[in-house]
Amino acid sequence: MTQINDSLNWRYATKAYNTNKKLTEDQVNTLIESIRLSPSSYGLQPYKVIDVETPEIREKLKAAAWNQTQITDASQLLVFAVPTDLSDQHVDTFIENVSKTRVVTVESLKEYSDMIKGPINSRTPDQRKEWSAKQAYIALGILLKTAADMQVDSTPMEGFDSVQFDDILGLKEKNLTSVVACTLGYRSEDDIYAKLTKVRVSKDDLIIKI
Ligand SMILES: Cc1cc2nc3c(=O)[nH]c(=O)nc-3n(C[C@H](O)[C@H](O)[C@H](O)COP(=O)(O)O)c2cc1C
Repeated sequence: MTQINDSLNWRYATKAYNTNKKLTEDQVNTLIESIRLSPSSYGLQPYKVIDVETPEIREKLKAAAWNQTQITDASQLLVFAVPTDLSDQHVDTFIENVSKTRVVTVESLKEYSDMIKGPINSRTPDQRKEWSAKQAYIALGILLKTAADMQVDSTPMEGFDSVQFDDILGLKEKNLTSVVACTLGYRSEDDIYAKLTKVRVSKDDLIIKI
């Protein structure tokens, strides 16, 4: 069991990346696949992931992220974005996918579809956005663990101005808004954070047994 958690002890929120070491296409595909396979409420996956490859765009995003160098220096930058208009349309698209994948009729999934639409429609647009963001964060967590298992360094990042990110990435036109980002790559030898002891609450402080 200890070995399973070794990668979680190895990983840390990388502050300085080695700009010369890039991930291979295979590695990037494996990391993205871990996002794709992540669980979400109802299986709806109410988010998109923007894989930002263009250096000029990364420069602009860095300025909107308190100049955090990870944005430009890491091999990859993934931005998680959620719909600003989560609606029946998204559920219908999901139901069509279930129907095609599992070879069942859309009609036979009507009850399931209504069961999903009810709680979504009872929420305000802001609550829908929050709910979608929660789903995106699950995928972020799985991505972080997958990266750690692959000995790939990563940084989950909330430290950015999402209005500016949306503007730079053209997300508004796509009815999306950015919620969290993750950089991936290899740590720089000079990153002093790599050597710091991990700070976590004790198991006793974490767990309430009842
Ligand atoms: C949702 C989230 C957002 C974060 N945002 C940033 C960020 O913008 N910049 C950064 O350097 N670290 C960021 N962190 C990293 C945390 O500060 C770090 O995970 C925490 O201090 C624990 O340290 P460790 O991950 O190195 O073990 C973020 C972490 C999470 C989970």
